Amino acid sequence: MRIERFLTGITTSGTPHLGNYVGSVRPSVRHSLRPGVESFYFLADYHALIKVDEPARIQRSTLEIAASWLACGLDPDKVVFYRQSDVPEIPELTWFLSCVLGKGVLNRAHAYKAAVDKNTAAGNDPDADVNVGLFMYPVLMGADILMFKAHQVPVGRDQVQHIEMARDMAHSFNHRYGDHFVAPEAAIEDHVATLPGLDGRKMSKSYDNTIPLFTPREQLKKLIGSIVTDSTPPGEAKAVEGSALFQIYQAFANASETEALRQAYARGISWADAKQLVFERIDQEIAPMRATYQALIDNPAKIEAILQAGAAKARAIATPFMGQIRHAVGLRPLQTHASTTAKTVKVALPVFKQYRESDGQFYFKLQSAEGHLLLQSGAFTSPKVAGQTIAALLAEGIAAMHSSPVALEKGPDVAESDIAAALHALQITKEAKPG
Ligand code: TRP
Repeated sequence: MRIERFLTGITTSGTPHLGNYVGSVRPSVRHSLRPGVESFYFLADYHALIKVDEPARIQRSTLEIAASWLACGLDPDKVVFYRQSDVPEIPELTWFLSCVLGKGVLNRAHAYKAAVDKNTAAGNDPDADVNVGLFMYPVLMGADILMFKAHQVPVGRDQVQHIEMARDMAHSFNHRYGDHFVAPEAAIEDHVATLPGLDGRKMSKSYDNTIPLFTPREQLKKLIGSIVTDSTPPGEAKAVEGSALFQIYQAFANASETEALRQAYARGISWADAKQLVFERIDQEIAPMRATYQALIDNPAKIEAILQAGAAKARAIATPFMGQIRHAVGLRPLQTHASTTAKTVKVALPVFKQYRESDGQFYFKLQSAEGHLLLQSGAFTSPKVAGQTIAALLAEGIAAMHSSPVALEKGPDVAESDIAAALHALQITKEAKPG
């Protein structure tokens, strides 16, 4: 079984709201807990700089988004959860990719084109107020994705073009320098609900109609009270079609609860009572997470430590991979033999060690590049089966741990994701070897 690797970035430019929760956080967290998936979630703070020039807001948003994902159940031991700016290999890769991508491709990027069209319509210089960051946005995003060989990138329709460009960059680079990158696919999130906001339009920061995810209970009640309704009086039947209140309820309630509200609408429940019901139902789901969120917000050092641990896992992959990419393009130590073919660069990598004990049985262990024990096998009677188990770990990643014929134990203080990252690093260097 091939492990599907998912990767998603969240731009750190605002405060998470109920629309982000229903459309992104909740489904992503659930998805990350499934077997057979490996997920990378990161805070896209370099991307945030393109549109936000208030340092305090960048920092606050990073804190709030990290706390929100963790409070909603993202398990940093199961996934790789990191901050983009903690991985300096990402901007480095951005440069390499920008040298294989045609400028014309970026001219056609939606976000840049929209800015140009707006300027042109206003009779301004086409590039007025457009920073180079906005122009380069798709390349940075391509580096985010290609660095970790993501197969699937869950995105909204508006981001599909960026994934196409990442594929384009992967192909152009591979064509010139050999097979280094995996072309990603967009996993389009059409099935997840888009939540209406207070005014009935899509809940979005740009419409100023949001309900912050972890607003205090009293404030949540007030905001739900302000959701737009029509003027049907109490006692008169109300339409569920086009009712923002009903749609919001639906995103939280199960089928029978939804049916019950549908009937209450038909019976003429008052808007005040309906709002009370919706408020209590949402709060029931959010309240326990709100307490966790608050505890995290009050302890930024803890979040920072989680992100640093995540960055270490990300860099365990990114550092050797960038070594390989630098070598591929010819940025090499001068004493290495000049060659026109792609060659793997020597970098510190995790290693498998196979050995025989005095009991006559065969064992192996996986050690990190620094020599820490990541994985210890039990006793194999046959060296061949031990070797096959290692091969399965390399081919399938962490999933093979659970199908091993002999118990495999994690080293002390080692998370599954550390092992997954080490296997991935080995996989990448193996795939990159020519032939
Ligand atoms: N552009 C994405 C957005 O605005 C955020 C993002 C940055 C991203 N890098 C990414 C998403 C890589 C997926 C993969 O939502």
